[in-house]
Amino acid sequence: MLKINQLNMRYPDGNQVLNQLSFHIETGETVGLIGANGAGKSTLLKSIVGIMLPEEGSIEIDKISVTKKSLNKVREKVGVVFQNPEDQLFMSNVYDDIAFGLRNYGMAEDKISERIKGIVKSLGIERLLDHNSNKLSGGEKRLVAIATILVMEPSLVLFDEPTSFLDPRTRRNLIEMLRGFNMTKLIATHDLDMALELCDRVIILSEGTIFKQGNAKELLSNQILMEEAGLELPFCLQKRNNE
Ligand SMILES: Nc1ncnc2c1ncn2[C@@H]1O[C@H](COP(=O)(O)OP(=O)(O)OP(=O)(O)O)[C@@H](O)[C@H]1O
Ligand SMILES: [Mg+2]
Repeated sequence: MLKINQLNMRYPDGNQVLNQLSFHIETGETVGLIGANGAGKSTLLKSIVGIMLPEEGSIEIDKISVTKKSLNKVREKVGVVFQNPEDQLFMSNVYDDIAFGLRNYGMAEDKISERIKGIVKSLGIERLLDHNSNKLSGGEKRLVAIATILVMEPSLVLFDEPTSFLDPRTRRNLIEMLRGFNMTKLIATHDLDMALELCDRVIILSEGTIFKQGNAKELLSNQILMEEAGLELPFCLQKRNNE
């Protein structure tokens, strides 16, 4: 599904952020992308959808190489939910934001309305449809941003910190919902408890390169490894001091 080979990525100011990065993701997998602040997670997600093009190396999605020419095809297959939901919402109300992508594809309004109904129901945000996107709370913006992507039914979805801003119950609902969607998912997150619950595999990034990848439960419960990567164990595996 996704093949990344010897990827190097540098920002225009010369900052080399991804370094000889290679990994594969198979169809249907849920993979966690973890690593300390600044490790390069968001940069990697931006490169997969061609917001930044590789300086060296290659990215392939279903055998399509990500280049300037292939961007339209790539974006039909891949959706990305950004770290900051405000980057994703720009219409005056929630319904129009969620409908935007489908209208661009020329889908009929009654079909759009049907799809939107299904997606807002599964996210529990029906009541927000006629609200102004600018005036939502942080967590509501996050859920609407997720709806704008899922409504397109992409085969690969990249999530950048999907649980940030969410209250505990909304976070729990989102985790259950993500579990229920069977598209391929790559989830960049500091929420290691979510990664432990949801992911088959994790990729640990450190300074723009792969520090370790493998079975999520094995890696996330290895305290020495996690500390070497600048991380900690998931909360549910940490021993409390008074125990
Ligand atoms: N537009 C930019 N220009 C130059 N350097 C940048 C730019 N955006 C990010 N960087 C640098 O790239 C590195 C990786 O940033 P990135 O946002 O990919 O990290 P991250 O792993 O997503 O971190 P976080 O956990 O804080 O979200 C950082 O050192 C950051 O300073
Ligand atoms: Mg980030």
